Amino acid sequence: MQRRDEAPDPTTMNGSPAPRTVWVSGSSGKLGSEVVRQLREAGDHVIEADLVGESPVDLLDPAAVAESMRGAVAVIHCAAIPAPVNIEPADLMRINTLATFNALEQAWLAGIGTAAVASSASIYGPAWSDEWTSPALRFESVPVDEDTPLTFVDPYALSKDVTEGTCRMFARRGMTVTALRFHWIASVEQARERVATEPEAEGAVGLWGYTELGDAARACILSLGPLAAHRGYEALVIVADDTLSEVPTEDLLDRHLPNITRRRTIPGMGSAFDSSRAAEVIGWRPQHSWR
Ligand SMILES: NC(=O)c1ccc[n+]([C@@H]2O[C@H](COP(=O)([O-])OP(=O)(O)OC[C@H]3O[C@@H](n4cnc5c(N)ncnc54)[C@H](O)[C@@H]3O)[C@@H](O)[C@H]2O)c1
Repeated sequence: MQRRDEAPDPTTMNGSPAPRTVWVSGSSGKLGSEVVRQLREAGDHVIEADLVGESPVDLLDPAAVAESMRGAVAVIHCAAIPAPVNIEPADLMRINTLATFNALEQAWLAGIGTAAVASSASIYGPAWSDEWTSPALRFESVPVDEDTPLTFVDPYALSKDVTEGTCRMFARRGMTVTALRFHWIASVEQARERVATEPEAEGAVGLWGYTELGDAARACILSLGPLAAHRGYEALVIVADDTLSEVPTEDLLDRHLPNITRRRTIPGMGSAFDSSRAAEVIGWRPQHSWR
């Protein structure tokens, strides 16, 4: 493995913040385009990498990835198939796992020290499992956090587990890598629409959670540093601190998931996910709600 010398610290130049050049994959997609918008708004330079767009890059082609990454000091990897629908499981696995490997391998070879990678709260398992209410597959306790066991049986969650394993490996090689476990990524309008139309029982599989789009993108950018409390690899729960419901969360749990263990009381319409580790490590707290 031939590696270039470490790229210069992207955040400091003579002690003051300098514009960074950040490589963003999936930059034409829902999350990636918002990441690009926020980076540019903050004065950073962006290299876009997506199958779709003016200069298409296929993440499955390592040489194309290397070429597109030239000049970048950090990477934000959002390109993926974001759900196990309308795609063969084998294709989903191949695309999501190889795209992540190529993004991180080429970043490492280029001497890039920092990466943020889109994972998913679907990694826990219930989201895409038809059998999610069976005891072996459901959430045993709330709030869900980074220690909650993974019980998935579907290829999308498996692809995110492999994604996170890939992140861990590159952290062992010395990179600082943050995997972000987003819930359903939604604009405020999309969240409001779901609250207005989705039957209460249907939200139970995801514990009525969501991640507001701008907040999701901000978590990616915060993961580039500075990161005093980071351990080299972190998988962080990135979920809004309220639910997609006007019913108190404890009442929702009583009605739809009466057997779930509550490790603490959840006040009001508070989330059944705990993102406090993200606050500690990258300083992320949700700033937007559909309310
Ligand atoms: N949308 C959600 O609710 C949600 C929730 C949790 C996690 N995530 C994760 O966040 C990330 C972004 O999701 P999104 O909603 O923006 O998805 P999206 O489908 O809107 O965007 C993904 C982008 O990746 C690109 N892409 C796919 N394969 C590629 C390849 N081989 N080479 C280059 N580009 C390729 C697509 O062209 C697309 O623009 C994904 O990793 C997804 O799994 C999404």
